[in-house]
Amino acid sequence: MKTLFGPFTQILTMSNMAFKGSLSDEQLRIIKNGGIIVEGDRIVEVGNFSDLKHMCKSVHEIEFECIILPGLIDCHTHICFAGSRANEYSKKIQGINYQQILSEGGGIYQTMEQTELNSDEELKKLTLSRLKRHFFEGVLTCEVKSGYGMDLIQERRLLKVINQIEKECPTDIIPTCLAAHVPPKNKNNLSREYLKLIVKELFPALKKENLAKRVDVFIEKNAFNINEAEEFLNSARQNGFDITAHTNQFSSGGLSIAVKSGALSVDHLEVISDEEIKLLSNSDTTGVVLPGCSLGLGLPFAPARKILDSGCKLAIATDWNPGSAPMGDLLMQASILASNQKLNNAEIFSGLTYRSANALGLNDRGIIEPNRIADFIGFKLPDYREILYNQGKIKPSFICKRGEVYDK
Ligand code: NIG
Ligand code: FE
Repeated sequence: MKTLFGPFTQILTMSNMAFKGSLSDEQLRIIKNGGIIVEGDRIVEVGNFSDLKHMCKSVHEIEFECIILPGLIDCHTHICFAGSRANEYSKKIQGINYQQILSEGGGIYQTMEQTELNSDEELKKLTLSRLKRHFFEGVLTCEVKSGYGMDLIQERRLLKVINQIEKECPTDIIPTCLAAHVPPKNKNNLSREYLKLIVKELFPALKKENLAKRVDVFIEKNAFNINEAEEFLNSARQNGFDITAHTNQFSSGGLSIAVKSGALSVDHLEVISDEEIKLLSNSDTTGVVLPGCSLGLGLPFAPARKILDSGCKLAIATDWNPGSAPMGDLLMQASILASNQKLNNAEIFSGLTYRSANALGLNDRGIIEPNRIADFIGFKLPDYREILYNQGKIKPSFICKRGEVYDK
């Protein structure tokens, strides 16, 4: 059965906009007094509410002024974890740095230890509560990485948990294997062997049990170096996985091998040279910037303005994790990025919708037009520009996920 939703004060459809490079607000296709017809989990028609009314017997009437955006897509998170790193955060705000804590066996290793102490049920509960918070803040599709497993057995367990929770919440979850997060504790000299073991033992299990189609690696000091990461990413590609990389967070160099290996995205980019930006702009790889990580670590933002002006693909994600980005509020972080980097509404909203879908290799969402998945969110505001002006503090009041309406 077809249902008409509306009337909406403004619908930002995000249709007919470029995937690469800078944008202007004039390019936004805004439908005033709009309506959206949905059948099953798909959009059938978008247009003027009164014009569409005769096409549907069923109408879901909206009684407040409402600005509609496509459902947000968070293309980079680490929300499957247990425990807190508040102890380390207190040290970080006194000046001890992230890399030092990691090199001393804390940081990611601390979360690995805490995660291992929790049962599957406890981990599911923790991850689901984060997904729920995200959902009501507008994130209707969420990538979730493993990465807090001490060994391959734990990594496989985390990916199973991530897969199982998809049935228990409305969010579409995109699982990513980040077994190559850091080398086994106190065994940095075994990093290459560890990567080989992932390829030999974990990849076949991921395929057999259908646990992940995407593989990630952290390229950095105290994690994996450029040569071993290149070998690893190429093996992942040869095994049929989509690939992505954590790179250029504290040092540059990893981006070029990730792009050459055909990565769908390169994420972080706080430290990036002009040559690397050029390489990215000549590729199909999306640069994913993570303002929540800069906020969490008190470090400069990735140069998003320059990346867009150089013609690159750019998406924005939370990086929600217990160490570098504990806040997890996508809209607020994107709003802060907008004011810091001078990104306009069109650039921010594209980076949170169809461009982040593209970073995940998804082309069925992120735009409000016929045949796309019926994912859209509504804000009780008179004008779309109020969203960033309020710095992401005003959350959606209306959520439609795959054609179903959800209340808090
Ligand atoms: O993207 N840099 C590596 N991984 C995460 C942080 C993980 C953690 O500190 O627990 C990130 O920032
Ligand atoms: Fe990350």
